[in-house]
Amino acid sequence: KKEKIMCGIIGIASNKPVSINIINSLKKLEYRGYDSAGLATLTKNNINEKKCSGRVDELEKILFKTPSDGNIGIGHVRWATHGVPNVINAHPHSSDQVSVVHNGIIENSDEIKKELELKELKFKSQTDTEVITLLITEALKENEPLDAVFKTLQKLKGSFALGIIFKNFSDIIIGARRGSPLAVGYSKEENYLGSDSYALKSMTNKISYLDDGELCVLTKDNISFYDDDLKKVNKKIYSMSEDESTTDKGAYKHFMLKEIYEQPITVKNCINEYIDSLKKNINIFNFPIEANKINKIILIGCGTAYHSCLVAKYWFEELTSIDVEIDIASEFRYRKLKFNSNNLYIFVSQSGETADTAAALDICKKNNVKTCSIVNVIESTIARNSDWVLPIHAGTEIGVASTKAFLGQLMVLYILCLKIASIRKDINQSTYEKNIKNLNSIPEAIRKCLNTESNVQLMAKEFLHAKGSMFLGRGSSFPIALEGALKLKELSYLHAEGYPAGEMKHGPLALIEEGLPVIILAPKDKYFQKTLSNMQEVIARGGKILLITDIKKEVINENIRFGVRVPYIDNSLSPFLTTIPLQLLAYHVALLKNCDIDKPRNLAKSVTVE
Ligand code: M6R
Repeated sequence: KKEKIMCGIIGIASNKPVSINIINSLKKLEYRGYDSAGLATLTKNNINEKKCSGRVDELEKILFKTPSDGNIGIGHVRWATHGVPNVINAHPHSSDQVSVVHNGIIENSDEIKKELELKELKFKSQTDTEVITLLITEALKENEPLDAVFKTLQKLKGSFALGIIFKNFSDIIIGARRGSPLAVGYSKEENYLGSDSYALKSMTNKISYLDDGELCVLTKDNISFYDDDLKKVNKKIYSMSEDESTTDKGAYKHFMLKEIYEQPITVKNCINEYIDSLKKNINIFNFPIEANKINKIILIGCGTAYHSCLVAKYWFEELTSIDVEIDIASEFRYRKLKFNSNNLYIFVSQSGETADTAAALDICKKNNVKTCSIVNVIESTIARNSDWVLPIHAGTEIGVASTKAFLGQLMVLYILCLKIASIRKDINQSTYEKNIKNLNSIPEAIRKCLNTESNVQLMAKEFLHAKGSMFLGRGSSFPIALEGALKLKELSYLHAEGYPAGEMKHGPLALIEEGLPVIILAPKDKYFQKTLSNMQEVIARGGKILLITDIKKEVINENIRFGVRVPYIDNSLSPFLTTIPLQLLAYHVALLKNCDIDKPRNLAKSVTVE
């Protein structure tokens, strides 16, 4: 049975025992997967493997009872979409000679398995990874470790990031990358291998990244890199950015709530990075295509990041003379597209590691078009592979549900849109300056939106026994309706439909029945009256209305069960504000339903396989 995995890997070569640091790094990598975990260290030339199903906490308990010595080791957290997440399938996969951790998919594992079984080799697990273990073990009979790994890689199809230790070569870890991300970190008398820089952050801020096809050999004192011809290569060492947000929950019950409450600050940080308030100007330079020459903008992302692209489409259409298309990365990468070198392709991704978004970016690169990425993790694959990077400066986002990154993406997209509109003279100087000034009101307005929490908490109760729910909006409130529905689904496992309010009559109205919770997003923009008419259609069919608006007058009447008022700044800025009660709503419904808020079932923070 073929297994697909998305996971995190770590390796440490040191002059002191490594198991505790491996556990600590695995906890950071749990955002990539959390259905089983394991580690292997070398103790007196023995491979000492410990594995468990479930979270890294379980692995830590096992280590507490039976500690693992060893100054060199590898670790893994796994997320499976196929194949049982049990102890046997957990990584590492070891033979009597080597131990391997793997992130990715070996597409020809079935064929290799058959060949190896003909040689009477036995498999313990259902995973595709174990073929790597057995191939290296076989190759080691006639080769040194690096050659044995290199020869094994020639036989593999698919994607991988690997960490490998060897029973008889007790001072090295070999890493290899094809497709899946892999970083190394440098420290005094200790070196590291990791799926991302975040996992290594508490140990070092000196990082290099393996490019596709490359291998590395780590000892405690040295790291050597090799290209796909096994020729030695040098790597650039990056100093990682300082992370201003702390990575513990502080007084908050969940990371998600902490991250929702951080938004006034993260949005302010983002504005400070891009806006020169004194000169009333936007500090965005070095466009990969002159703004005047951009023919079309194509915005690409997945999930919440896709929703920010959708909001930006409304802004670009409103404020600039440029045509805009948006696409879901998993669709974009397989479509037959006509590329144009005057188009700007913008990739939006919090993690910068989403496999579909990264693959869509690769396609653009192969077609020689200009790319821009809007990311939170600036050391990520997508950031490194794009021509131009605009970071969102939101600080580490731990909760699987994206909150502060969404507002950061919106902010960068809005600022970019204003800058392009001004360079092209699509808007005049006074509109440009007025819009820049308006941005400064957003952090305080978000803070006021957070004050709606107690009201939203009451609203959340209305969803507890509901069969489903519906989120409706028009214009840029339509993507916010989609985002509100996505947050509710992902956190509370409750069915939620996000729809353009004007589409109701074309089918979804049939879903409305007595007591169905329907969230209406109705800011005072050009769609306001139309949205209210759609609301009446829902009321007439018994839907329970929960209205989110920025109009000043009292919104509650006998037909509206709850009303939440957010501040008004400007018509185009309402997405920054109406989002907040929806984030809080999803949080509180999930809390009432006792769901695992920071780690919702079946999901992972960074989706590094297709
Ligand atoms: O890291 P990315 O922004 O590329 O991730 C894209 C989606 O996987 C992500 O936004 C997902 O939809 C969130 N869990 C939603 O809250």
